[in-house]
Amino acid sequence: MMDCTDRHCRYLMRLITRRALLYTEMVTSAAIVRGADPKRFLALDQSEHPVALQLGGSDPAQLATAARMAEDFGYDEVNLNVGCPSDRVTSGRFGACLMAEPQLVADCVRAMQDAVSVPVTVKTRIGIDDMDSEQHLDDFVGTVADAGCALFIIHARKAWLQGLSPKENREIPPLHYDRVHRLKRRFPALGIVLNGGLKTLPAALAALTDADGTQLDGAMLGRAPYDSPYMLADVDRTFFGDLAVPLPRAAVVDAYLDYAMPLIAAGARRHLVLRHLVGLFHGCAGARAWRQAVTRIGQEGGDPRSLETVAQRLGESRVLAA
Ligand SMILES: Cc1cc2nc3c(=O)[nH]c(=O)nc-3n(C[C@H](O)[C@H](O)[C@H](O)COP(=O)(O)O)c2cc1C
Repeated sequence: MMDCTDRHCRYLMRLITRRALLYTEMVTSAAIVRGADPKRFLALDQSEHPVALQLGGSDPAQLATAARMAEDFGYDEVNLNVGCPSDRVTSGRFGACLMAEPQLVADCVRAMQDAVSVPVTVKTRIGIDDMDSEQHLDDFVGTVADAGCALFIIHARKAWLQGLSPKENREIPPLHYDRVHRLKRRFPALGIVLNGGLKTLPAALAALTDADGTQLDGAMLGRAPYDSPYMLADVDRTFFGDLAVPLPRAAVVDAYLDYAMPLIAAGARRHLVLRHLVGLFHGCAGARAWRQAVTRIGQEGGDPRSLETVAQRLGESRVLAA
């Protein structure tokens, strides 16, 4: 998620779930291929695996180069964004507006898939503007699948490219999970992953199967885990049957600070590194005090290690309250 996630965020998420596949925010192929410092966009910590890089772009050759660089850096998957509705993205001819150009998306996917051995996947919507019929989505998915894409993440609402802001486009057009299930029925051999409005893991799990028994291949969650990362502590058990006990929140804080302190000492902006901890106690007694402590230490200074004491205290008070 642009302006939210980064490699620090993924490090934190990975302390909480070992199995969930993590996606980067969208990075344009131009920034990677033509920018002065591709490492800035591509560097990753080994602990982030499995991790996918999401690319934005519509130039097949440039996307292929960016995908190859991503594979060289160690990404496990390369995903093409065909869902972002922002003006800036649309004027650059990438993101959701590409739903109107299935053949171009197919050319991009083919070029990328020819350049790498990791999977190339596509994240898209159920439609854009008046191009929102089931037939159009079928044609789009069929054309892109023929070019070598075997997995689609579907944000189950259309986007209005004129008149709605990106934020409104994540809230106003209604969600249609039924359309994603019907897509899966028509393309049973493709991986189809559901995205949009999934706020809890039980809700995500339930949404994967419809009344006819059609089973989707996965759920992608965006805002909910960003706001409340510890909800991911149940992912390994719920979705992967992995019964390993997740780290308690206070241990997550300790481990994250072990990672963050050397970065801060080396000059990383402490606010940018610490901000991902803000939601860690979301929904717990003391969440507000925690948010304030993280924000204060991030912005005003003070010893980040003091957060360990706060986290310990909150962890203990949860036990007392249980
Ligand atoms: C601040 C913000 C930034 C986002 N950036 C991206 C992005 O870079 N790439 C992408 O595919 N989707 C992006 N999205 C959309 C989310 O991935 C997701 O499709 C959408 O929020 C619906 O899922 P959710 O209800 O689980 O959040 C972004 C959403 C938000 C709120």
